[in-house]
Amino acid sequence: MPTLDYGSMLKGVLGEDAGLDPDRLSQDLSERFTKAHADVEARRASEEMGFFQLPDDRALLAATREAADTFGQWFETVVVIGIGGSSLGTATLRESLLGSGWNELDAEAREHYPRLFVLENPDPHSFSGLLSRLDLRRTLFNVVSKSGSTAETMAQFMVVWGLLEEAIGADKVHGHFLFTTSPDSGALRQLASDLGIPTLPIPDNVGGRFSVLSPVGLLPAAVTGIDVEAMLRGAGEMVKRCESATLTENPAGLLATLLHAADTELGAHIHVLMPYADRLRSLALWFQQLWAESLGKGVARSGERVEVGPTPLPAVGATDQHSQVQLFMEGPRDKVLVFVGVENGGDPVHIPTIFPDVGAFSYLGGHSLGELLDAERRATAEALRRGGRPSMTITLDRVDARSVGALFMLFQIATVYGGALYGVNPLDQPGVELGKELTYGLMGRAGYPPPELPSPDPRWRA
Ligand code: PA5
Repeated sequence: MPTLDYGSMLKGVLGEDAGLDPDRLSQDLSERFTKAHADVEARRASEEMGFFQLPDDRALLAATREAADTFGQWFETVVVIGIGGSSLGTATLRESLLGSGWNELDAEAREHYPRLFVLENPDPHSFSGLLSRLDLRRTLFNVVSKSGSTAETMAQFMVVWGLLEEAIGADKVHGHFLFTTSPDSGALRQLASDLGIPTLPIPDNVGGRFSVLSPVGLLPAAVTGIDVEAMLRGAGEMVKRCESATLTENPAGLLATLLHAADTELGAHIHVLMPYADRLRSLALWFQQLWAESLGKGVARSGERVEVGPTPLPAVGATDQHSQVQLFMEGPRDKVLVFVGVENGGDPVHIPTIFPDVGAFSYLGGHSLGELLDAERRATAEALRRGGRPSMTITLDRVDARSVGALFMLFQIATVYGGALYGVNPLDQPGVELGKELTYGLMGRAGYPPPELPSPDPRWRA
């Protein structure tokens, strides 16, 4: 199970002029968290936060498994079409638990589980690039959209539908689709019932970016042989660990409270998530959406105009030591880092004891690549600490289904605590609406007049 080290957020450990006073963990920070915890518990009790219940939802798991077992046998490739909360969790699952090379493996090496692709951005270049490599006759398209109307997802779905009609005939197309959508509303749900397309539900009280442990992530995971039981078990264990209203006993509470204080009191507005594992690179992107879309808000729940929110920044170690770490070490003191380290990072790759006379690198011989990666994580955290720059470290025993499930839940719970601490609603995203409406207008949707866009002024064109 993941552990959280937070000493390097505290005065004394960080130096006398930096960090948060450790006594505050049992004083005002503790009180602040207790209130946030009570607020979240109340919203959870009123069933607004359905993601807490997903690890125990056996019926949803059984329905997902049944669909996965059926489709897993028929198709060589599964393509998820979705965006935002409907795609980032699946990308994280694929990279962390199947490995980035999964789709290049032959069927035997994949134990005959399907390849898994995600169509997210409606960029014609990536869309056509993927479609031209697929055998449509052997591909299942899992269209994932809670609203059932997201333009990017629906546009790609429509193109795929048209291509399938040409390739296999209109009467067979519906057999290549599975919709994951709202249980009772939206155009996708309607289409499914009109055309007899199988569906899986996203519970009404589970928002897009909190949906990875619903059929949104479970179907692609189960169909590719990921141990979904272990993933839900890890998530359930994390729910239990985060039940305490005592700050120092609640890892999600500590994460949220310390990051909130770093933003609002230490000026650390930029929250960097930096796993030291390529497999967790996508996790940092998933976290970025969760943190940004949930906490970046203009209006508080009280109705007051606030314009708050930390800026999440993904990074990956050790690669970013040769890119962003210079900025983290010496640039503005507006960042706090959350490192993710892995104790057992995979098959050990030993570095041979050769070139004994080349002092510049002979010292590496006899170690392993994993040892080097972990030493770099510890060294970077220590270098930041010496510079009085705050950080925390989450450590996993290994990257497996249980620990990834636990991590998802840890960040989701921290996010809803974050909402309570900032005084905003972490479950909505009103700021994306205007852009959507203007897009509808530009694309000619009925009821949305074409917007007047200022034409580019030649005086301001270089
Ligand atoms: O977190 C969210 O609610 C959003 O990021 C959605 O997941 C995203 O906009 C996609 O929405 P939908 O699933 O309705 O297509």
